[in-house]
Amino acid sequence: MNILILTGSPRPNGNSNFLAERFAEGAKAAGHTVTHLDTAHLDVHPCIACEHCHNGSGTCTFHDGFTDIRRAIAKADAIVFAGPIYYFGLPAQLIAAIDRFYACGDDLKFPKKAALIVTLADTNPDTAAAAVLQFRKIAAYEGWADGGVLVAPGLWSAGDAKNSPYADQAYALGKSF
Ligand SMILES: Cc1cc2nc3c(=O)[nH]c(=O)nc-3n(C[C@H](O)[C@H](O)[C@H](O)COP(=O)(O)O)c2cc1C
Repeated sequence: MNILILTGSPRPNGNSNFLAERFAEGAKAAGHTVTHLDTAHLDVHPCIACEHCHNGSGTCTFHDGFTDIRRAIAKADAIVFAGPIYYFGLPAQLIAAIDRFYACGDDLKFPKKAALIVTLADTNPDTAAAAVLQFRKIAAYEGWADGGVLVAPGLWSAGDAKNSPYADQAYALGKSF
């Protein structure tokens, strides 16, 4: 399986990137190919609802970092979103990329499965409920099977995930794909 991981933290050595890497290690151990693209450092412009993509061409008016993401989605059997919780939701970096799915049309039919990894400082996992619900709604809308959700609360500083039980849980989630 060809798995695309989209991360969304501006902290390269942060918690969600670390868990995404552990997921990738597990997935590779299971024989999968993993591509990692980082929405936080790809210069993805937010959608401006210009409808250029729906004028028949299926192309976006912006030619930016999302071009690589779109190409990768069209080749992916599965897609994994990983990022921090910002104000009870997914961070703007991931949302900007997700909103650009608007232009992708049939490219989004290639992935058949999806997963979500989110990290948050609060020790109450319910703080991630809105992000989890959004992920599940998007997966259902796109027809992607729910491959699993890993909510990792209690992680504040970059590096906190390293000695947490979530490191092994992320690996196991990747291996389960
Ligand atoms: C702008 C901002 C907003 C945040 N909002 C929340 C929040 O609503 N709830 C929470 O528990 N943690 C919140 N946090 C903390 C991060 O979710 C937490 O530190 C997470 O582990 C960071 O992941 P990262 O290292 O992958 O960036 C916020 C952090 C920032 C910078």
